[in-house]
Amino acid sequence: MQLLDGKAMAQTIKEEIKIEVDKRIASGEKRPHLAAILVGTDGASETYVGHKVKSCDQVGFESTLLRFPDSTSEEEVLNAVQELNNDASVDGFIVQLPLPKHINAEAVINAIAPEKDVDGFHPVNIGKLTLGQETFVSATPKGIITLLDRANVKTEGMHCVVVGRSNIVGRPMSILMSASSNQGNATVTLCHSRTKNLKEICLQADILIVALGRAEFITGDMVKEGVTVIDVGITRVADPSKKRGYALKGDVHFDSVSPKCEFITPVPGGVGPMTVVSLMQNTLRAAEEK
Ligand code: GUN
Repeated sequence: MQLLDGKAMAQTIKEEIKIEVDKRIASGEKRPHLAAILVGTDGASETYVGHKVKSCDQVGFESTLLRFPDSTSEEEVLNAVQELNNDASVDGFIVQLPLPKHINAEAVINAIAPEKDVDGFHPVNIGKLTLGQETFVSATPKGIITLLDRANVKTEGMHCVVVGRSNIVGRPMSILMSASSNQGNATVTLCHSRTKNLKEICLQADILIVALGRAEFITGDMVKEGVTVIDVGITRVADPSKKRGYALKGDVHFDSVSPKCEFITPVPGGVGPMTVVSLMQNTLRAAEEK
């Protein structure tokens, strides 16, 4: 079993980005600038946005965090999106999800200018991704593709089972893994909450990508020997023995699954850091394309 160390790989990529930023500055160009809209006080979202802002700092980007209270109206969020669309100093921006229930997330995402949509959530960018065209690939799927690629995990001809069909992870992941590309060319099965024989399908996986959001859902009896497992889940589970009162658990029961794996990502320190660094790569690209 080999751990896929996303934290170490993300650190290497951050150093690569920093070199590119330094070159830009040396040639008189401006620092890439990422902005983020955060509505409400969801603890996990606060943590994720915090990581994004810190990473901007580490790679030499400018960052702006726009915070709004839970009570913010949809119109106010749409206005903030329009302002960022029109702000020439901002290369790319994200709206952290989930949004409070009274705000229509689809309407907000549709309002983002596709050329500034470094999360790759806009329908135009998802459409391009589906057609195999150059675009901003959303950060988590992009991070997973990079992780597999740099760790030399063969995907061509493999059976890749994706568990979870979210617009952010599962669905784009299934498209990328089946794409006619060096990091794709897999045969993909996309499973979800209505899948009947999940265990039988998971047992067929050469590569199992799990993005369900249910702590320790995949157990050792659901995977075959030699599988590569990518665990996207990160759920806070109450744990009074921890100082912060919770432990972070993946969607995969690590202790029973990992002995059967060729490769597996840890939680934390696997997919999470790769997601953040992929957003940095997208932001650098947005700045370069301006
Ligand atoms: N919420 C969970 N993951 C993400 C992400 O990658 N981007 C945004 N904007 N919100 C998220």
